[in-house]
Amino acid sequence: MDDASTGDLWSSDGALSDTVEVETHPSFDGVSEDLEEVQPPSDIESTDVAVTDLLLPPEPPINLKTKRSLVWIDPAVLECGLACILSKISPDGHGGRLIDAWFTRFATTFHSERLGPKQLLDAYFSGPAQDWNLDDLPFKVTAIHNRIDLMDSGHCGELRISLASMDPILKPFHLIFVFQQSSDETGCKSVASDWASLSELEADAFHAKANTLLDQSISFETFLVAETVEFIVAPWEWRQWFVEPSDGAMPWSLENRPLFQTVDTARLNKPGAERDEFLDWVSSHADSLDARTQLIPEKFRAMSVRVNQGVPWIPLDLTGVGKDILENHPTLRQNIEIVGCPGCHTADAEFVQTLPDSSFSEFYKKELEAREGFMKAVMADETPVRPFGPLQDNPILTP
Ligand code: HEC
Repeated sequence: MDDASTGDLWSSDGALSDTVEVETHPSFDGVSEDLEEVQPPSDIESTDVAVTDLLLPPEPPINLKTKRSLVWIDPAVLECGLACILSKISPDGHGGRLIDAWFTRFATTFHSERLGPKQLLDAYFSGPAQDWNLDDLPFKVTAIHNRIDLMDSGHCGELRISLASMDPILKPFHLIFVFQQSSDETGCKSVASDWASLSELEADAFHAKANTLLDQSISFETFLVAETVEFIVAPWEWRQWFVEPSDGAMPWSLENRPLFQTVDTARLNKPGAERDEFLDWVSSHADSLDARTQLIPEKFRAMSVRVNQGVPWIPLDLTGVGKDILENHPTLRQNIEIVGCPGCHTADAEFVQTLPDSSFSEFYKKELEAREGFMKAVMADETPVRPFGPLQDNPILTP
């Protein structure tokens, strides 16, 4: 595998290094937070066709294979597990102290104290964290996901690695590591084509190319965020973890921040000034919220969010928003809920999207079809529009 053929995909050209430390990290959907509302790209097309375009024979369309170009579950390309990922992103090249501080932090955040992750570490290790053999960690890579559908003008979306705890008791506990794909100056057409070309390779060539690409994409410079969904002790809980400078043993640690696009239903359903302010804001942004193009300000978001299994969904209470607004937007509440972690992970999925055996939720299967369409559109030089939350048409919404 020569570098030239993979160099423009996943090359970490340093474009990201200054965003890694900024306050407002590109987060879950890779949208910078200073955007008030997502502007769908203009679809005015140029009518000037270059002469050379007319002379070139059209490229034959690639027959996309989902498990090559959209998501990988082939064990031969899932070999870089948790120990490998941690060693590549952590400042000491090992990762013991990073995961020690991270999993311990679950138990000390003021908004929620979760003992499970720390218990898992205690069950496997003793002594100083820098001496742990992290290959003993009971996590398995469940899949690697191509999220080119999250591209915008500054980057070509994300590559994500999901993992599941395989401990017989200390589970379910799922992690996902999110890495940014650099922009390629072709509107992500070349990144899309590189992913697409994997569909056409023989198995050996696929393994070699995928592993080279992975090697290039997993680094501190491209690392955006880690996300967790955990149920070691009930209820289920979702969190996001961002790089934050630290004055501990390591220059940075992973810190829990307000969840991307996830309104804090528990807090905002309670009468008071915060609820009043929220309802006013919903009233004046009803169109964009219903269209799922509205960025939700941090002050309305939750630090972490919990859902009890077997208990009916607790809806966001929009009583107080004008009657005519609610009548004109009958799915306003659900469109606010579905862009958040628990809505999307429960409406058409059983809390988890990629299971320990690398099978997928119903939601994710449909999403993969929609992402395939998105990728083809990018390769055809179109600028497909995507809302926040599900890409698929008519997704199943929260009850
Ligand atoms: C639009 C629906 C949607 C939303 C909103 C969403 N997720 Fe997911 N999540 C998915 C899908 C689909 C996957 C599979 C990987 C992928 O497609 O990126 C996934 C994967 C995960 C995983 C790996 C385990 C698993 O379930 O497969 C974690 C952990 C996770 N998400 C956490 C979060 C957190 C935390 C949030 C909120 C900040 C969130 N998710 C919001 C759809 C969603």
